[in-house]
Amino acid sequence: METRIIKIDQMNPDIKKIKIAANIIKKGGLVAFPTETVYGLGANSLNSEAVLKIFKVKNRPADNPLINHIANKEWIYKLAEKVPEEAIMLAETFWPGPLTMIFKKRKIVPDVVTAGLKTTAIRMPKNKIALNLIKYSQCPIAAPSANTSGRPSPTMAEHVIHDICGKIECIIDGGKTNIGVESTVIDLTVHPPLLLRPGGVTYEMLKEFIDIKIHPAAKVMIKFNEKPASPGMKYRHYAPKADLILVEGEIDDMIKKIQDICVENRGKKIGIIATEETKEFYGNNVRIIGSRKDMRTVAVNLFKILRDFDNEGVDLIVSEGFSTKGLGLAVMNRLRKAAKTVIKA
Ligand code: TXA
Ligand code: MG
Repeated sequence: METRIIKIDQMNPDIKKIKIAANIIKKGGLVAFPTETVYGLGANSLNSEAVLKIFKVKNRPADNPLINHIANKEWIYKLAEKVPEEAIMLAETFWPGPLTMIFKKRKIVPDVVTAGLKTTAIRMPKNKIALNLIKYSQCPIAAPSANTSGRPSPTMAEHVIHDICGKIECIIDGGKTNIGVESTVIDLTVHPPLLLRPGGVTYEMLKEFIDIKIHPAAKVMIKFNEKPASPGMKYRHYAPKADLILVEGEIDDMIKKIQDICVENRGKKIGIIATEETKEFYGNNVRIIGSRKDMRTVAVNLFKILRDFDNEGVDLIVSEGFSTKGLGLAVMNRLRKAAKTVIKA
């Protein structure tokens, strides 16, 4: 299939171009589009056949449900039953933005979207291209991240092109996404609500408004110095092709441990993920992910660096760990899932 690539300015989107993509969605086709978190691979949520194609293109397991993206809050009531008051308050506070809320679903939401669950996920993205695409498609858009399943999520159109060009009707190139990790997913069907996936809206931000618990799986506590039991789907979700060793601990210990790993793996092509504060302590192939003083810079660069190292043909990636405060929880969740080995320095 020929994939049409349409360049659109995310600050000032050309509505004529948006309408071309919206028409593809209306006709049951697939469009990859930027959101403020990562690129999504979208189809009309209410069209089961169209949504099914998303799973095929991504090679996504059929038991992993999708998020409905909406541009108008009224759609919450059309898709969800029993919308608690706290959801309205959270929507007022964090939408449009990187927060996904899970509700009991209404019949209108096809089973393929929810992977057979009785609940469904809804979010209103902030990116103007995404909002206008939904608006002109005149339907909610079901969209997972636009990567091949298991690979790092796309933060640039180039990443989407690399993974799925030729398999879908259209890719909107709206430049880099500005958060870089996916939305925070919270389940509002349980009491207290549960944070299932840390993301752009932090636990601390949510805590100011509601009583919420973090699901243990969201922290991804792998036993240190052990390889995850199954290196397959279960743990390695955002994985680069190269093996990734994640080193956690106090800064000085981490630096020393990473230097040791480099010595032990002499002869391999190694890529190191370091920070502004630590870059000078390692040899050559170092990428600076950002500053420890500003986790937003770290989040925004994470997936791109993993992909860049793959493109360079690196054999082994070694990354420093971060504090799990604020956006650090989302960053560490992705790094721990991507890692083949997690080491405590
Ligand atoms: O930032 C984002 O959320 C991006 C952009 C494109 O919006 N989307 C995204 O989608 O990351 P995806 O499919 O890669 O991740 C959606 C997550 C998955 O972990 C899925 O299991 C969970 O949301 N999810 C969706 N519906 C659910 C439900 N009913 N119950 C529990 N988890 C659900
Ligand atoms: Mg994903």
